[in-house]
Amino acid sequence: MPIERVFVAGAGLMGHGIAQVHAAIGKHVTLYEPELQRAQAGKERIAASLDRLVHKGRISGEDREAQLVLIEPTGDPGTVRHADLVVEAVFEDADVKTALWRELDRLAPEQTLFATNTSSISIDRLALAVRPARRALFVGMHFFSPVPVMPLVELIRGSATSDGTEAAIRQLAGELGKQVIVSTDRPGFIVNRILMPFLGEAMRAYEQGVGMAEDIDAGARVGLNHPMGPLELADFIGLDVCLGIMKVLHEGLGGEQFVPPKVLQDLVAEGHLGQKTGRGFYTYPR
Ligand code: CAA
Repeated sequence: MPIERVFVAGAGLMGHGIAQVHAAIGKHVTLYEPELQRAQAGKERIAASLDRLVHKGRISGEDREAQLVLIEPTGDPGTVRHADLVVEAVFEDADVKTALWRELDRLAPEQTLFATNTSSISIDRLALAVRPARRALFVGMHFFSPVPVMPLVELIRGSATSDGTEAAIRQLAGELGKQVIVSTDRPGFIVNRILMPFLGEAMRAYEQGVGMAEDIDAGARVGLNHPMGPLELADFIGLDVCLGIMKVLHEGLGGEQFVPPKVLQDLVAEGHLGQKTGRGFYTYPR
């Protein structure tokens, strides 16, 4: 089944980027948040991102308008009745995701594909939220931030995911210009299983006073040729998101490398979640 109409649930860091890349290849996108204002704010973020591309001469003003027109913000979950595909990118919490999937399963046509952008939670666990017949259509489709820039999609099959569902997601990822890697349904999949111990160790080095944040980050940027240092990358991803992923990894796999560092737990408890709140390991002008 060709995918033309995409319902993106969640208009935050990941959701707005996912909506943007689908509109960029001509898909009709419904951008859903329970509060309409948040969906509208997501669309404004996309408009600002497209402004930058126009300014750099990467796209024309007409392209910008053509893409924006394809994105419809909504606060009504019932609009999922038009969707060929749902991509869910809400907060990384199994209960939050489960409640949303249960609701969308009631409202969506029976052939609609369900893809979760979870970065660590088991696909089989989330698929329990939907009726058994839908589970063949349920899959993990994990994007990386900034979504318009990072050319990877991690595809995760649950035990019930059908070959047809995998093929449809592969086809779409190809249209989006993303390379697909396939992971089994294990905590953190492939990328976050590699990434989180790296970020965690940088945080432990920081809390033990091994080096200043700037020096730890420069070590990775200059010495390892990473585009960002681990502490600035954690701030960029969101410290609450990193903490959530590390907890899933530690609960599911054990191992000291996955234990969330104290400094991370403290920052999150204080509401310092990184770039999005203006403070994490660094402070950011607001
Ligand atoms: N939307 C569209 N384009 C964007 C963008 C955005 N939000 N942010 C940056 N870009 C584009 C810029 O326009 C620029 O394009 P051109 O080269 O065509 O001009 C290009 O990306 C580079 O951007 P900048 O020059 O502004 O800045 P930079 O060179 O410092 O790169 C970066 C910024 C791409 C974010 C780079 O620092 C980077 O790759 N960082 C690492 C990101 C990363 O590791 N992401 C994965 C996080 S893990 C995750 O997402 C999954 C999870 O589950 C936690």
